[in-house]
Parts: sequence; structure tokens; C-alpha cells
Amino acid sequence: MTVRDILLAPHPTLKRRAEPVVAVDDAVAKLMADMLDTMYAAPGIGLAAPQIGVLRRVLVLDVAAKGAPPDPMKMANPTVLWRSEETATREEGCLSLPEQYAEVTRPARVRIGYLDETGSARELEADGLLATCVQHEIDHLDGILFTDHLSALKRGIVMRKLAKWKKANDAA
Ligand code: NI
Repeated sequence: MTVRDILLAPHPTLKRRAEPVVAVDDAVAKLMADMLDTMYAAPGIGLAAPQIGVLRRVLVLDVAAKGAPPDPMKMANPTVLWRSEETATREEGCLSLPEQYAEVTRPARVRIGYLDETGSARELEADGLLATCVQHEIDHLDGILFTDHLSALKRGIVMRKLAKWKKANDAA
């Protein structure tokens, strides 16, 4: 079990676009396992590789309800194949912006194509919390944070609150 350090906004790596993995090899499988360990330790329900400083298109998720058995998902090279016109607004947070939350509006349902931890191509149809979470994590692979979906005014408020939090918690 390897828990990696999570980069905090506004770290420049979080704004960069991640590169696709060429193949899901042992190194990528190990990255996915470390990412899940890091996510559960935080704790969080999603983590993208750039958040631990790795600019590869890899993410992990677990949106199982509290008390339910874990339901880890590992994805390489995820792409949105379809998104609904209907939208949903949900409060989002991010392990790179600890204790900051804001409402974000996104497509309510999406279909995602990805490679699983064995390299098999899979599709996922998601709605509810899973749809929000997977879109949030795919955004990370393109250097987009949930705050980028907010107005400049709201984003400024969140970033100032985060700066205060970092100072109070002596975080870089
Ligand atoms: Ni995030």
C-alpha cells in the first residue's frame, strides 16, 4: 500500500493536460492501486493521476454509499462517448481543494469508454453521483478543476478560502 502526496491548487501540474497511457502495463496497474490507496486514505470518492503529479490519463473512483461494500473503479484513457442534454447540479469538492465545496452543473448522464486495469475496453453508463464524479475526474485529465466551472467571483472566493485553509493547516 502506497499513499502518495496529493497536490493542492493552485499547483501548476493541476492545470496541465495529461497524456494517454500507451498500454495498461504493470506500471499503470501499480499507479491505479496507489491512487486507490491514496484516495481511500484521504478519504475521497475520486482521484485523477495529475493530482499525485503523474500526467497520465488515469483515474479511480468509488462512489459506494457509506456502509456498503467498496466498489473501486479504475480507468485508463477515459473518454465521454455521449452526454445527456439534461443537466444536474450537485455540490462538488476535490482532494486538491480541501474543505472547499461549490455547486456545479454538468450533464446528468454520460456514457464513458475506457480501459480497465487489465487493459480491456469497457463502457460505463453513469447517472447521479457517479456521472458527476467521473466527469469531475476526466476534467482533471484536461487540467480543469471544478472551480473552473464557477463564475470568476465565486472562484475567487473559493481560492481565497483555500489559501486561508492552507495557511491554517501549514500545507504547501
Ligand atoms: Ni478533484
